[in-house]
Amino acid sequence: MSTRDLGRVLEAIVAGVVVIDRDGIVDEINSAACRLVERSREQSVGRPIEELVSGEHALSRLGRKALERGVGFSESQQTLERRTGDDALVDVAATPLFDDKDALDGAVVVLRDRTSRNRLEQLEEEKERFDAFGRIAAGLAHEVKNPLGGIRGAGEILARRSDDPKTQEIAELVVGEATRIAGLVDDFMVFARGERLAFGVVNVHQVLDHVLELAGLDPMSSEVRIERSFDPSIPELIADRDRLVQVFLNLVRNGLQAMEGTGGTLTVKTRMALERRLVTKAGRSLPTLAVWIEDTGAGMDADELHQASTPFFTTRSGGTGLGLAVAEYWVAQHEGALTLESEKGAGSRARVALPLRRSPE
Ligand SMILES: Nc1ncnc2c1ncn2[C@@H]1O[C@H](COP(=O)(O)OP(=O)(O)OP(=O)(O)O)[C@@H](O)[C@H]1O
Ligand SMILES: [Mg+2]
Repeated sequence: MSTRDLGRVLEAIVAGVVVIDRDGIVDEINSAACRLVERSREQSVGRPIEELVSGEHALSRLGRKALERGVGFSESQQTLERRTGDDALVDVAATPLFDDKDALDGAVVVLRDRTSRNRLEQLEEEKERFDAFGRIAAGLAHEVKNPLGGIRGAGEILARRSDDPKTQEIAELVVGEATRIAGLVDDFMVFARGERLAFGVVNVHQVLDHVLELAGLDPMSSEVRIERSFDPSIPELIADRDRLVQVFLNLVRNGLQAMEGTGGTLTVKTRMALERRLVTKAGRSLPTLAVWIEDTGAGMDADELHQASTPFFTTRSGGTGLGLAVAEYWVAQHEGALTLESEKGAGSRARVALPLRRSPE
């Protein structure tokens, strides 16, 4: 095979490939590797392998080790810091090269980008987590709802039959609380039902306007400034409108609650997300829409942020701790992603990424 053919083969490989000579100088680099290390071929060929990445990295370390020892080495899930894009996770494998006389002649280092696969693994994990909630929810609903019905009925009878106002008051409290718990179980049942989404054509800006209108009726929004920054080029998407209303309402309410009493600004922003695309189960990327809901409220520390979307985690006295878990669930059902960022004392930002279309099953 001629050198030109070899170059074409290298270009056709999805993985990043770096060929170094006996002294660790880059001989050849394909464009997948160039993309990963964010350097051009011209900036790389003829330079020591260490210059491809800043600081210590498995790329150069394993390349050198393969040269020294004459055997292959590999390490998985190495973080590759990027100047522009998100950090990548790569599997690195270095293999020594020998000439016709079996003398060490250089090495090939292969970089396999694990980032998108990890996203799939993450989705899989999320699904398992929700399935576990589902089983708990189904059991909970069964064990709790029937006796609750009885308690509520008994409370109602007691309230009706008693002439004593104090007894009536207590009986009404029983009824009220039993009703509240029944509602909570219903909320949690979301996970158990494994409901199918009712997909339709949805204008996300109308959904957001509707949510902000609903939230505006709440007295807690009276001191808050609401800002919209909508990207008018966003097309309609295929989604379940009612579920999206629920998702955004939960996020907006959290933002408003975080600013309650102090005032602040709630910003709702939409953009086409070209920087990072969601990947379908089949590994295909989908054009994605991103919605940010940002507040300037109390914020969360790292611990709270970590736990925020765990069902029943709440720091609010009236909270059930299901708002984020439910939002996360519906977003995941849309094959989207919900991420949270927060800084204690400064505010929080939720980002909902939604594919514009459903992926074909
Ligand atoms: N925007 C935010 N700013 C600060 N803390 C937040 C924000 N969103 C969520 N949190 C924290 O995460 C917790 C869980 O939120 P989540 O919406 O799941 O439940 P909740 O708001 O407590 O109750 P509810 O079920 O009524 O929504 C909150 O109690 C709060 O501590
Ligand atoms: Mg909430």
